[in-house]
Amino acid sequence: MEVTDQNQQDAEKLLAAKEAIKFVKDGDVVGLGTGTTTTFAIKELGKKVAAGLKITAASSSVRSEELAKSLGIQILDLGTLSSIDISIDGADEFTDTLNLIKGGGGALFREKIIASLSKNSIIITDASKQVEKLGAFTVPVEVFPLALRYVADQLIKLGGKGILRKKEGEVLITDNGNYIIDADFGLIDDPEKLATDLNQITGLLAHGLFIGLTSKVIMAKGSEIVSFDK
Ligand code: 5RP
Repeated sequence: MEVTDQNQQDAEKLLAAKEAIKFVKDGDVVGLGTGTTTTFAIKELGKKVAAGLKITAASSSVRSEELAKSLGIQILDLGTLSSIDISIDGADEFTDTLNLIKGGGGALFREKIIASLSKNSIIITDASKQVEKLGAFTVPVEVFPLALRYVADQLIKLGGKGILRKKEGEVLITDNGNYIIDADFGLIDDPEKLATDLNQITGLLAHGLFIGLTSKVIMAKGSEIVSFDK
């Protein structure tokens, strides 16, 4: 990617982040996603908190939590919450039906818990993330280590070619102590059916197909904001 493309993409991420932050109100419990786009949102939220906005937050990853804490945002234990007022997260792909692929940053399990708890789940993206059909981006699945071979075999039965995710040559371990398989199903004709099939696999703890979990996608395209609502 050209440097100018990168700058353009970052400008779009920041614009989408600023737009999403407008929906956060005093007293909200805010779910924080993970990734480069969400990082812009957490930094913007930090500025609002410094200016007096009173919120608490729950984080989908250690890195988002550390950033939020460094900006003075109070972090709650996700496991104690029965609802979240608003969450802000990124996506690897989205369709205008508000279905997503997430998990490029490896935080999909906690991100899905946050999305499931959220009354208002907002996804922020640059223009590169919009697709007609999900699946050009592989579907990440978080796997309990002892189920690795079993899950990999089940993915093959569903038509997926899985690759165990590595980072700097080592098998990646998630914040939850698990592995990630990136599964290539090609372009996905029926994401709801695939999500249901993946949900049946023992040892597959979460997958990156987010179906029916999103309230709104805020996409920045150049200097324009385009919103997709439920
Ligand atoms: C992390 C995610 C991210 O939201 C997704 O990968 C998009 O990341 P970025 O904002 O860096 O493009 O799902 O698990």
